[in-house]
Amino acid sequence: MKIAFFDAKPYDRDSFDSVAKQYGVEFKYFETKLYEDTVDLAQGYDGVCVFVNDTVNAYVIDRLYEMGVKIVALRCAGFNNVDMKYAYGKVHVLRVPAYSPYAVAEHAMALLLTSIRRIHKAYIRSRDFNFSLSGLTGFDLHGKTVGVIGTGKIGKVFASICNGFGMKVLAYDKFPDKALAEGGNVEYVELSELFEKSDIISLHCPLSDETYHIIDDKVIESCKKGVVLINTSRGALVDAEALLEGIKSRKVGAACLDVYEEESDLFFEDNSGHILDDDVLARLISMPNVIVTSHQAFLTREALQNIAETTVQNIAEMLMKNKCPNELCYRFGETKDCKDGKCFD
Ligand code: NAI
Repeated sequence: MKIAFFDAKPYDRDSFDSVAKQYGVEFKYFETKLYEDTVDLAQGYDGVCVFVNDTVNAYVIDRLYEMGVKIVALRCAGFNNVDMKYAYGKVHVLRVPAYSPYAVAEHAMALLLTSIRRIHKAYIRSRDFNFSLSGLTGFDLHGKTVGVIGTGKIGKVFASICNGFGMKVLAYDKFPDKALAEGGNVEYVELSELFEKSDIISLHCPLSDETYHIIDDKVIESCKKGVVLINTSRGALVDAEALLEGIKSRKVGAACLDVYEEESDLFFEDNSGHILDDDVLARLISMPNVIVTSHQAFLTREALQNIAETTVQNIAEMLMKNKCPNELCYRFGETKDCKDGKCFD
């Protein structure tokens, strides 16, 4: 089984090579991302393995189909970069639905603590033997209200971490979790109430047409003054220009961003020798109360190992049994788990 692995990084090779052999899967690693200009590299392979910023649009799907490449193995949970409707009946789309919700939720909390306790500033100061505390005043998390949007695997872990800090947790989810609500530590509310009452807002829902720019200028206007926004989910959940305006007007107290709307050409790469063309990102990064990490929340040893194991198992299972429990399909007019392999003949 030969798989073309796109957007390969050294840490991917380490974890994937450690499991590939035992399942008889052979990877050819390409540093380039998958998109229209590179899809032909997949010629002669059984499948492609892709990550969050590879492009699997109609053109790419058509070329894969023409070349007889039947599998698109996502080594991530989100699938907003795949045209699922178009993929139906042409390629099997497999994903890793869960690999470590702790990795992402803990990173969200790490960003929050760094930001509000000014650790990023203190670190730089003390390296320069500047031990002044002026300007480093933070605030207690204990007693504050956090609004969690999306209470799936990651949102639940984040909520529980916040409970541990003595915070009040408000939540919004399109499909609220009854057991979570009954547990008494999380209160589901309407989105408008969450925005109005939260001191901190953390996004853990997927990106879809419905959630695109779920944080825009009107929402920011309705939030508490000084609200802290955390986005470890997908960049386009937040209108970055509106966020910048919110920061400039002092309405937004701080922003912790692991993802950014236009990240695909920038994140995961060393751009330190280049002029940044994206003025919004450059201005955000220049703000003392904005922390940006480059889609790093998943990056723990445990998560990488789980990603590699599940991705390789998915590929092996699909090639041997023609079905896989982690297949996604658009059979019924929306993207769902497809456990019977019937979205492809
Ligand atoms: P999940 O599928 O377990 O949870 C997502 C939750 O969002 C579900 O409870 C769902 O009902 C809810 N939801 C769906 N539509 C919604 C809407 N319109 N409004 C409010 N809630 C809605 O997914 P999981 O594993 O918790 O991941 C959440 C997101 O985190 C992923 O979609 C992905 O975008 C992002 N992610 C980011 C990573 C990073 O490294 N920064 C790594 C892994 C995931």
